[in-house]
Amino acid sequence: MSDYPALQARLVADIGAAPDLDALESLRVAALGKTGSVSALLKTLGAMSTEERQEQGPQIHALREAVTTAIAERKAALEGAALEAKLADERLDMTLPAAETPRGSVHPVSQVMDELAEIFADMGFAVATGPEIEDDWRNFTALNIPETHPARAMHDTFYFPSQMKDAEGRAMLLRTHTSPVQIRTMMEKAPPIRIIAPGRVYRSDSDATHTPMFHQVEGLVIDRGIHMGHLKWTLETFLKAYFERDDIVLRLRPSYFPFTEPSAEVDVGYAVEKGRRIVGGSGDDEGHAWMELLGSGMVNRHVIANCGLDPDEWQGFAFGAGIDRLAMLKYGMDDLRAFFDGDLRWLSHYGFGALSVPTLSGGISA
Ligand code: PHE
Repeated sequence: MSDYPALQARLVADIGAAPDLDALESLRVAALGKTGSVSALLKTLGAMSTEERQEQGPQIHALREAVTTAIAERKAALEGAALEAKLADERLDMTLPAAETPRGSVHPVSQVMDELAEIFADMGFAVATGPEIEDDWRNFTALNIPETHPARAMHDTFYFPSQMKDAEGRAMLLRTHTSPVQIRTMMEKAPPIRIIAPGRVYRSDSDATHTPMFHQVEGLVIDRGIHMGHLKWTLETFLKAYFERDDIVLRLRPSYFPFTEPSAEVDVGYAVEKGRRIVGGSGDDEGHAWMELLGSGMVNRHVIANCGLDPDEWQGFAFGAGIDRLAMLKYGMDDLRAFFDGDLRWLSHYGFGALSVPTLSGGISA
């Protein structure tokens, strides 16, 4: 009979001293492989008498168990060490200049969305989103645009085929504005609310300044005691930050939207420098050029009530602006269709560096 404990001690010591995974594998084969020493011992069990087997069987099995465990432990230790060595060896110095200049550019629409998020975040606004496939209630009815309302005709809506219906059995549609995100936000979150909602919207319309898909940004504030002064200050602060100039003046013209009352169309005025024409602007006597930029107003109390809030307690303002138009005015493009052509020459000319993130401190469009 072999001295199992001595054999085990020797094998376990060798395993513990294996310098690498290859050496460990050789030891494993030598002990547990087909012709290995421990396997050979296991084979002797068959030729033993019942008594011998009862005595030696458990010892041989224990030996195999101990060797197997030792191998697993050594393997884990060696692999851990190998990983540590690899991590130490492959360390990257992130402060080194890039070996290759990053390719591609940030689309002006994405750039402007980032600028908007940065500007409004500074005023405490969060970014909200909603789906582009919307139901009739959120796109129209909840916004105080009932079925028979002429305002529905103002939106050239894309409706889905009749198989796609909402809970009320009405055809789903591509949202015609970002205003349904007002509804979604008021339904989901308790006031006070301060959000902007940038995103794609769709209308059946196409020429140099209209594409069937375009981008809007919605703004919504709901709180106690909100009035037009808050709206005007917010828009003025936003537009000064966005156009990166202080000489901006606003003109609020009375207007009509079913979801705001009163409503105002907002024009922005630039001080006109002699001989300089501003795209889309029309001059006045005071040396200003005016550009129509956004729709706005105090949230209609019906809309607040439609979302389950008490309009006597909660008031707010909302605004909506075309992002593509904001981009065109600031960065000087004159054809909206080029925004969506994917022409690499246009993109590399008007695009923004992938690594330049707009910040208020570092410059919004720097
Ligand atoms: N939803 C309006 C539009 O698309 C814009 C708007 C938004 C007006 C919010 C007032 C308040 O024309």
